[in-house]
Amino acid sequence: MSLFAKKPAVAPAPNVNKETTAIDLGSAYVKIAVTDKNGQITQTVVAANPLGFAVPTKNTQIEPLANLLKNIFLEYKLPRRNVALAMSEKFVSTEVIEIPYLTDSELASSINWQAQQYIPIPQEELVLNYQVLFRPDKKDAGSQNMRVLLVGINRTNVNNLIAAYKQAGLEPTVMETESLATLRHYQNDDPNSSAMIVNFGASGMDLTLLHDNEIAYVISHQTGSDMITKALMSTFNLTHDKADEYKMAYGIDSSFAQGRIAQAIVPIAQTILTDIKNTLTFYNNKNVANPVKSLILTGGGVQMPGFKELLSVNLNTPAVILDTFANLNGQIPENNHAMFPVATGLIKRKQ
Ligand SMILES: Nc1ncnc2c1ncn2[C@@H]1O[C@H](COP(=O)(O)OP(=O)(O)OP(=O)(O)O)[C@@H](O)[C@H]1O
Ligand SMILES: [Mg+2]
Repeated sequence: MSLFAKKPAVAPAPNVNKETTAIDLGSAYVKIAVTDKNGQITQTVVAANPLGFAVPTKNTQIEPLANLLKNIFLEYKLPRRNVALAMSEKFVSTEVIEIPYLTDSELASSINWQAQQYIPIPQEELVLNYQVLFRPDKKDAGSQNMRVLLVGINRTNVNNLIAAYKQAGLEPTVMETESLATLRHYQNDDPNSSAMIVNFGASGMDLTLLHDNEIAYVISHQTGSDMITKALMSTFNLTHDKADEYKMAYGIDSSFAQGRIAQAIVPIAQTILTDIKNTLTFYNNKNVANPVKSLILTGGGVQMPGFKELLSVNLNTPAVILDTFANLNGQIPENNHAMFPVATGLIKRKQ
């Protein structure tokens, strides 16, 4: 199985992967996009994940996850060929390192040693992939560094996840990280600009910093949309489903229910803002000439009424929702596009 794309595709790929079943197994929902031999989307699925986890960190979690996948494939009659999947950013360590000029073979022989300094996973547990993002011309090698993207994942987690798919009768052919898949939907034409992609899911928020469309930094926070649901459950004594309904219908728009729902969300909103602000400040201090100019929002949680405005106003930065079906054709779903950055990013992957 090949792990990760050979090159990070930053521009929307002109061709869509043919006959692929791309799976984004989230901690709350499983999102799936299927393409036919012409690269057209034939099916999309959003199915609940009642397990509360997406990556089996323990052996005992493999079987329940396999059963969930098996049931979803049966229920939606999904094709089993060319299964592409993504690793949750929570379990990934992504680093961009700047090092003096090395040839491919020099890099290959020193990369494990380089990685040990940056990736906090012990050598024997590390699955390491790397891509050269920038290599200066040889004549500039004395004055310019090269940039290399390092992606490290814990071996046990990769093996357990693949074991769950295999136990479900599926043979994954591709695995990459959620941020790399998501990046394929985004292209900024201003070469010197920086942007931040915010993927706000149920149990976490991944922040990907981009400079000139190239990945600079990825950080995963534990703040997710389910924290908002839990705040509504405890404030108004609601079930999880009912609280989700309120969250989706009213969010932090203070014109509803005399602002009582919005009020209950304020403490979580503050945590979200603090997490983003800390990362923004960290990045902007290191990139004074090119601070982040826009926030690109994706993940189911950004669909909450008032979420986009919460971020753009409080962080004083324009925010837009990422178009996760840009340049795709076929059976585009009517709703919940923000839940699909990873699944549709996977089908835009160049093999
Ligand atoms: N219209 C909406 N308004 C508010 N919240 C929404 C809306 N639609 C979905 N959500 C919330 O988004 C979350 C699901 O989003 P998503 O599918 O991106 O998460 P996930 O991938 O399962 O989670 P994670 O990536 O954290 O493992 C849930 O918390 C859900 O309540
Ligand atoms: Mg997710």
